[in-house]
Amino acid sequence: MTLSTLELCQSAPMIPVIVINDLAEAVPLAEALVDGGIKVLEVTLRTPVALDAIREIIASVPGAVVGAGTLKSAQDVSDCVAAGCAFGVSPGAPAGLMEAVAAEHFPFLPGCNSPTEAMSLADAGHEVLKFFPASAAGGVPMLKAMSAPLPDIKFCPTGGVSLDNAKDYLALPNVVTVGGSWVVPGAQVMDGDWDAIRDLARETAIALGNR
Ligand code: 3PG
Repeated sequence: MTLSTLELCQSAPMIPVIVINDLAEAVPLAEALVDGGIKVLEVTLRTPVALDAIREIIASVPGAVVGAGTLKSAQDVSDCVAAGCAFGVSPGAPAGLMEAVAAEHFPFLPGCNSPTEAMSLADAGHEVLKFFPASAAGGVPMLKAMSAPLPDIKFCPTGGVSLDNAKDYLALPNVVTVGGSWVVPGAQVMDGDWDAIRDLARETAIALGNR
């Protein structure tokens, strides 16, 4: 079943931004996150093993809802659809990328950080937008200001979001979920400390409200 981006975001206390360097980490990392209550996963296309990692997680971690992040081109869209990604995310919304997203009917969170960009993307039918880089682009005050004239445009702020400030974002009426890398700290992943990742995911899911 294909979930809309709004349904995906509503089901996620947060969406972890994941960078996988070693393919062997993919499945145990995803299992730890899902065990901890974080099920919607964004595996970024920033490493050569990213698409293989996505395929392995989809094949081996049935509880995970696996999407891809850092999509930049039409080829990235084709690759992600072929790999079976449930959704895609981008830091921006260049024309070539968005044409491919539309042609594939691919559930997608395009990136933006201004009212004009948000209005254009909402007009094009995107239900949820990635607000990026959230803290550098004005954070909670900026999103709060946008909610007054544009209450129907929903966001997933990402970039500088942490367990300390996530609740401030989630309290806004135009924020459906948040994204961030804090549940996948590099040191724990490199040490294979999956229990620590699971505990961090659980702490996060409980703090932000299990969905
Ligand atoms: C990213 O694309 O790397 C995300 O914006 C993650 O940002 P964070 O590391 O500040 O959570």
